[in-house]
Amino acid sequence: IKKIAVMTSGGDSPGMNAAIRSVARTCAYYNIECAGIYRGYEGMIEGDFKELTARNVKGLINKGGTVLKSARSKEFRTKEGRQKAYDALVAANVDALVVVGGDGTFTGALIFNQEFGFPVMGIPGTIDNDIFGTSHTLGYDTALNTVVEVIDKIRDTASSHNRLFFVEVMGRDAGHIALNVGVGAGAEEILIPEEDLGLERLLESLRRSKLSGKSSSIVVVAEGDKIGKNVFELKDYVEENMTEYEVRVSVLGHMQRGGSPSCFDRVLASRMGVKAVESLLEGKSNYMVGLLSDTIQLTPLEQAVKGKSKINEELIRVSDIMTT
Ligand code: F6P
Repeated sequence: IKKIAVMTSGGDSPGMNAAIRSVARTCAYYNIECAGIYRGYEGMIEGDFKELTARNVKGLINKGGTVLKSARSKEFRTKEGRQKAYDALVAANVDALVVVGGDGTFTGALIFNQEFGFPVMGIPGTIDNDIFGTSHTLGYDTALNTVVEVIDKIRDTASSHNRLFFVEVMGRDAGHIALNVGVGAGAEEILIPEEDLGLERLLESLRRSKLSGKSSSIVVVAEGDKIGKNVFELKDYVEENMTEYEVRVSVLGHMQRGGSPSCFDRVLASRMGVKAVESLLEGKSNYMVGLLSDTIQLTPLEQAVKGKSKINEELIRVSDIMTT
């Protein structure tokens, strides 16, 4: 292997830039070339590449988003699109690929590898933490810190006005963000897709906390929660059934995906980048690098795509105890 290309794809997440930097610097360390691919698979199809050197990735470690940009490519879903991408990589003398992204990105990489035998390595980058084979995806820790900081601020208003706030957080179909920030910010209730609390129990729990002397409450709601009502409908439902609270809704949205990565994400990105390049140089392919028991380990890409990240049951129990 003489040249490795790196790209970011799917939803951006803090730490992606640090991963690009790490891949480029590791390539430089081993005296091989590195190319950055712009706009994920879309740029791959168009041959939109840029040479990455140890020096031109400076200043990236603390930057949110991705300087290589990200896109969801429709054309790469077609055989013709993938053929174009392969031709562009070959024309640029690229021998192997590091893809930073989530499920969709890895599925694309797997198909590409099956069709052309092109060596691929995945780095999990998403704030959702919904990837099997790693305890942490890149950007997850930063998102947790961002959201906790915001909920602390919302709590100021909640307690000044004796209000109940429903705070909706991201996570797609997973409740990792909601559960962790709920515990971290001391929420009174946490609604996650992995556990259906039910509307009645939610009301009961809110009544109980009111009776126990609480004048304000924060309920963290995962966007993928399955309680059957969205946050605005939840607000109406609670207002109809409880007169004790003035209710407000705050949907945090994309601010959760931005910002400078935490130290944890910067270090994780650096470790993952090194492992991804070194594994390719050892002749390995079709794996995802992940953090397991504080070591960087490889999981077959197929398993990473098919497996389900598990919610932390112990943390659910802790949150139940903390909300009494
Ligand atoms: O996967 C990251 C994520 O931010 C999810 O939490 C969210 O459901 C989704 O992406 C939003 O996607 P988009 O940026 O396309 O609206």
